[in-house]
Amino acid sequence: MQAWVSERIIHVGAEAEVGLGTYLGQPAIAKIRRPRGWRHPELDARLTRRRMMAEARLLTKLARAGLPVPLIQDFDIAASRLIMTLLPGRPLIEHLRDSNSVQSAESVLVESGELVRRLHRQGITHGDLSTNNILYCHQQGASLIDFGLSRITEEVEDFGIDLHVMHEILGASHPDHGQAMEWIIKGYLSVDGEHGPPPFAGGGPLPSAEEVVLRLKDIMTRVRYHG
Ligand SMILES: Nc1ncnc2c1ncn2[C@@H]1O[C@H](COP(=O)(O)OP(=O)(O)O)[C@@H](O)[C@H]1O
Ligand SMILES: [Mg+2]
Repeated sequence: MQAWVSERIIHVGAEAEVGLGTYLGQPAIAKIRRPRGWRHPELDARLTRRRMMAEARLLTKLARAGLPVPLIQDFDIAASRLIMTLLPGRPLIEHLRDSNSVQSAESVLVESGELVRRLHRQGITHGDLSTNNILYCHQQGASLIDFGLSRITEEVEDFGIDLHVMHEILGASHPDHGQAMEWIIKGYLSVDGEHGPPPFAGGGPLPSAEEVVLRLKDIMTRVRYHG
C-alpha cells in the first residue's frame, strides 16, 4: 500500500505546491517545494533543503510544546516533500469576509492574538502572519500553518515585526474590520496575564507581551514617517 495518496492540488504558491490527500488512510496535506527556475539548480536544491528542514524542525518543536500546528507525518528531502496532518477550519481571511460567521470577528481575532503570543513565548516568530496562515474552526479554535519563514529569536524587534506584518495585512485586506488589530493585541496581552512572564528561551530572556506591543507601535511610527 502506498502511504501517501494524492487527491487534488489545493494551492500553488510561489515556492510550494500544496496537495490534499491521505497518509496511511488519514486526511493529510503534502507540501512540495517547487524548483525556482531563475536560481542556480544546486543553490536552489540547497536552499530548498534548508528551508524544509527548518520548517519541519520548528513544527516538531511547537507540536511538542502543545501548540495547535500540523503534525509531521513524513519528510522526503529528495522529493522536497513534507506531509502533515490536515487541520480543521478555514483561513481567517474567509472568516473575516463572511459576515454571517457564527462567531463574532472579535472572538476569532482575540483567540488568534493569544495563539501568536503562545508562539512567541516559545522564542519563535512565524515570519508570514497573513490571514491565510491562521486557520479557525468553531469547534477547535485557531491553529497556525506555513512555517517556511519561521525563526528562533529572542529579539523584541523580531516579534514586533511579526505583529507588524499582521497589522499591515489586516489594514490592507480587511479595512471593514477597523478594530481587528486591537483585538489581536487584546489576545496577545492576555496570555502573559494568565501564565506569568515568558519562560527563558535557549539564548536569553524573552520580551514580555507589553514590550513587544510597545515595539510594534514604535515600528508603526517608523514606517509612517520613513515609508
Ligand atoms: N496542515 C494544513 N491543514 C489544512 N490546510 C492547510 C494545511 N497546510 C496548508 N493548508 C492550506 O493550503 C494553503 C497553502 O499552504 P501554505 O503552507 O500556507 O503554503 P504557502 O507557503 O504557499 O503559502 C493554506 O493557506 C491552507 O489553506
Ligand atoms: Mg501560506
